Order: sequence, then C-alpha cells, then structure tokens
Amino acid sequence: MSRYTRRQWLQTSGALSLASLSAAPVETLAGSENLPPNIPGWTKNMGAPFLSPAYGAPSLYEQHVKRALLPHPGPYPTASRTPLQSLHGIITPNGLVFERHHAGFPAISPQDQRLMIHGMVDRPLIFTMEEIARFPSESKIYFIECSGNSALELKKPTGVTVQDTHGMVSCCEWTGVRLSTVLQEAGVHKDASWLLAEGADASSMTRSIPMSKVMDDAMLVYAQNGEMLRPEQGYPLRLLLPGFEGNMSVKWLRRLKLGSQPWQSREETSAYTDLLPDGKALQFTFHMEVKSVITSPSGGQKINNHGFHEIRGLAWSGRGKIKSVEVSIDGGIHWRPAAIQEPVLSKALVRFRLPWKWHGETALIQSRATDESGHVQPTRQQLINEKGLNFYYHNNAIQSWLINTEGDVKNVHS
Ligand code: MTE
Ligand code: CO
Repeated sequence: MSRYTRRQWLQTSGALSLASLSAAPVETLAGSENLPPNIPGWTKNMGAPFLSPAYGAPSLYEQHVKRALLPHPGPYPTASRTPLQSLHGIITPNGLVFERHHAGFPAISPQDQRLMIHGMVDRPLIFTMEEIARFPSESKIYFIECSGNSALELKKPTGVTVQDTHGMVSCCEWTGVRLSTVLQEAGVHKDASWLLAEGADASSMTRSIPMSKVMDDAMLVYAQNGEMLRPEQGYPLRLLLPGFEGNMSVKWLRRLKLGSQPWQSREETSAYTDLLPDGKALQFTFHMEVKSVITSPSGGQKINNHGFHEIRGLAWSGRGKIKSVEVSIDGGIHWRPAAIQEPVLSKALVRFRLPWKWHGETALIQSRATDESGHVQPTRQQLINEKGLNFYYHNNAIQSWLINTEGDVKNVHS
C-alpha cells in the first residue's frame, strides 16, 4: 500500500492529463505483421519447450541488464556494480547483486566448509555446514552497501549512470541462523566484548565486531532470495551484519574468535578508516548512514516525452527504517514528499516515487532521505564541511541529476 493519497498525488502533479499517457490509436499500428490488430506469430506457433534452460534466465530482450565491472588498475577486476536503473521494487535478483572480492572468489564445497569458534569461550567448537543448517533459521530482508559506494563521486562527478555512482548496494532476503544462537553452544565468556570474523578466501578478510552487534541482529547466512548463496556472495556461509559497512559481512566465513579488544586488522587500520583534515582518522565507522538516489530518470538516460513521468528511486539507512524521502526538481530549493512503498523494513532498501510533469525545461532533480534515528541525508558540501576532502568511504551525499532541454540526464554536482 502506498502512503501517498490521491489528493497529494494530484497536488504535486498538477491537473494531470492522462491523455499524455494514452496509447496509439489502433489504425496507426497496422503495418507490422506482429502488431495489433494482426495476430502475432508467437500466438500462431507453439512456444519454446519447458526445461530450456532448466535453470531459468531473463528474457532475451533483457540482456543489457547486467552487472558492470569497476575500472581496475591491477590485472583483475575487484568489484562489479548492480544496474539500479533497470531494477524494480526492492529485491536485487541474485545474478545482479554487486560483488566485491579482495582476492577473487573461491569455490568451496559444503563438505569442506568448517566454521571454527574459539577464543574466550567455554568450549571451542568446529561446525560443519550440516550442523549450521540444523539451527533454528530465520529469513530477513536487508541491504548490503560497500562503504566505498559513491566514493569516486566526492571530488567530481565521475560516473555516467546510477550503476556507476551507486551500484554497490544490493538488497536480498537472507536466510540463516542468528549468530547469538550459534555462539550459545560455545558458551561465550561474560567479559568477551569483541568478535573476530575471518574469511577463507585468499584475502583472509578479517574484521573486529563489537559484541553489542553480535548479540543484536548479526546472522550466519547460507541462502539469498530463496536459493543457496551464490559463490560470489560467500557460498556456502557468510556473516551478515545488517546496516554495517559491507566489508564487515565476511564471506566464505571460516573462523570466529571471541576477545576483549579489537584486533586492529589490516581492513580496520590501513583501509576502511577515513582521514580527517586534522590528520587523524575515523576508525570503526560501522553504520552505513541514511542515503537515497533517484534511479529514474538517472544519468545516461534520455527523457523522450513531454508530460507525465514518475520519478523513482531507492532509499536506505543502516540505522533502521526510512522515515521519509523528499524530492526536489529545482536543485534543492523546494522539496516535495515522495510516496514510500510498503513494506518499510529496517535496514532494507525502500522504493520511493513522485509523479512529475516535464515540459522540456531544465531540471536539477535530487532526493533526500531521513531515517527513524533522525539523521537526514546531507548535501555534498555539508559532508565536506564535516569530514574534509581526504576521506574515501561513507559518501552518502545527495545525488544530483541534471536534465537539459533535450531530456538528456547527466551526473552533476549542484
Ligand atoms: N569477505 C571476504 N572473505 N572477502 C572479501 O573480499 N569483501 C567485503 C565483504 N566481505 C569481502 C568479504 C566487501 S568490501 C563487501 S562490500 C562485501 O563483502 C560485498 O558483498 P557481496 O560481494 O556479496 O556484494
Ligand atoms: Co566493500
């Protein structure tokens, strides 16, 4: 159910003439064999048989919808991005979930998968996949965002499309077991305050996690969107820390160690820290802050028709639920409330929409989200005033798309 009433819709869109949306009259379509009023070939002939392919794939006509690699200086690509401009709703299909691997992705058989729990526990334990799968399970919808998402946008507009600028965020239904449930088996010492998570890939991704998060909503997951994890998402087992920077959701999980202080691993000292103007660095910036982006119309697209258009986008916050999203079409001078599509879930993507009429004028469109913790998405200038220009991670600034009189949409800084 949409939160937008019909009255609000009419107010923001003006007196909307649906004539601008109406389809072509029947007589103008004659001419092609497959168009009405003719009976198309695919109605007259038998379609493709079942089981081809046995594991289904998108339509032949949707092959342009794919992940895109990040430009990479080294011999191997290290990340790919989700085509947000082509997606609908809030769930990212498994084949389009962005990937970030620091040393490629390993092929680990579930028979060879082990999870070791040790350190400040009564009983150090090693679990097989079968044992993990026996625990009470739960399924939750959460986003994962790489803290490097939009990093290249801070100094100058760099990406062409929203896939380039914001494509390192995804949202899946994850199935697994609460980490706190599994840890109970090992008997965690009362004074254990940190947990080390280590991956089995060649990067040995290692992060320290505060116990408050571990005991709250952290999960060990083995399935995404109804099927077992994809190899690139950590098959057969990954950690999931809802709302925290993607880096901490360690894939191909092999080891959890309980301790009384953070381990100061490479990924929390040399990387995943943010350099401030005074030369100090912010460390353990766990939460992905409130953020939103308009996905349609967005960079690289062209608006072909005057009249009605729905501005569509996504919003999310690592601190809980999205409370509201506002949209501006004049570069942030005036803001209108966007409709938010239910369900609004904590730490999940939310879809927003605003009806709009475009008559060929220049427009600078932006979205600004507010979360339930009261945080409001900042402008780029506000972010720079706060953190300077040396930081790299956690760019949650408002994104601007400039629409020119021809309808071309471009990534700009306002
Ligand atoms: N875990 C391991 N073991 N190795 C990795 O390279 N990359 C991290 C994290 N977990 C990584 C990892 C980073 S930086 C991110 S953003 C997320 O995984 C990305 O998850 P995804 O590839 O499933 O989208
Ligand atoms: Co990342």
